[in-house]
Amino acid sequence: MREALRTRSVTTPAADRPRRLRANPALRSLVRETWLNPAQLVAPIFVVSGRRRREEISSLKGHSRMSPDLAVAEAERLAGLGVGGILLFGIPDSKDARGETAADESGPVPETLRRLTAAKLPLALAADVCLCEYTTHGHCGVLEGDRIDNDATLPLLAEAAIVYAESGADIVAPSAMMDGQVAALRSGLDVAGFAETAIIAYASKHASVLYGPFREAAGSTPSFGDRKSYQMDPANGREAMRELTLDAREGADILMVKPAITSLDLLARARDRFDMPLAAYQVSGEAAMIEAAAERGWIDRRGAVLEALTSIARAGAHIIVTYFAADVAAWLKETP
Ligand code: PBG
Ligand code: ZN
Repeated sequence: MREALRTRSVTTPAADRPRRLRANPALRSLVRETWLNPAQLVAPIFVVSGRRRREEISSLKGHSRMSPDLAVAEAERLAGLGVGGILLFGIPDSKDARGETAADESGPVPETLRRLTAAKLPLALAADVCLCEYTTHGHCGVLEGDRIDNDATLPLLAEAAIVYAESGADIVAPSAMMDGQVAALRSGLDVAGFAETAIIAYASKHASVLYGPFREAAGSTPSFGDRKSYQMDPANGREAMRELTLDAREGADILMVKPAITSLDLLARARDRFDMPLAAYQVSGEAAMIEAAAERGWIDRRGAVLEALTSIARAGAHIIVTYFAADVAAWLKETP
């Protein structure tokens, strides 16, 4: 009896056989739900003043701070690979307490934008709007004592956004996490005649340790305290939905979530709630973790990058900002 049962249970066929569709590459690709396309990728570029100036960023493998001429050459390479857009960050020659140089028309971001506009590349041109690269204290807003003054920061952000729009940005990307920043940019842009300039809102931005390598690249580490009074607690998901809702209401055209890999649940929730383009930023620390492990031979670099980005897309991000944009675009040309 016991013998009979055992034989039977061993030979009972499985009712469901999902393995049928995994049998060969053609079947697997036929049923594949998520495909990456270089057109959905946005590459961050760090710009400095000068000519033929390139400084390697040790914390971001393969990335450098570049003068506008070299940034245009890099943008040409990215466009050639089919990458969808670039996101510019500026590192100014001089900083002050109010981050005034963020809105300097002769700063590296506006100059790069003007050159890029003249080059007419098939790339969406985005510029990050924040003060932290431009302030002596490294905070994303102006100070009132040692507090960050939300409302005093808003006009400075709007002013910078207008200068970038004037210089040719298709999209401005406020990342300071000040309340009302999207509304401030929208009304500032509209009044200045830039109703066509789009806003990609860093809407859900956690106070994350994963921004470390970026801050080294941009020289924007806060000189005191941290960013927890303006960036969100990574523990909070409902609050993230609220931030997304507010930015959508304030006039954002694209909603962004970051860091990507720690926010996959938020992307999935946002995909269901908002009929708007959703973006995710695979931040510097996410890139650094992959690079460091790959360098030690602990993981396969290409596999890790593609798996992370595919998962970010699967979770609901249509647009992905990633330091691997050029690599991925080249890989997808070999094997989509
Ligand atoms: C500036 C800004 C940061 C990032 C994007 N915009 C840094 C920060 O908030 O400290 C992070 C990007 C990255 O880590 O790749 N506010
Ligand atoms: Zn900032």
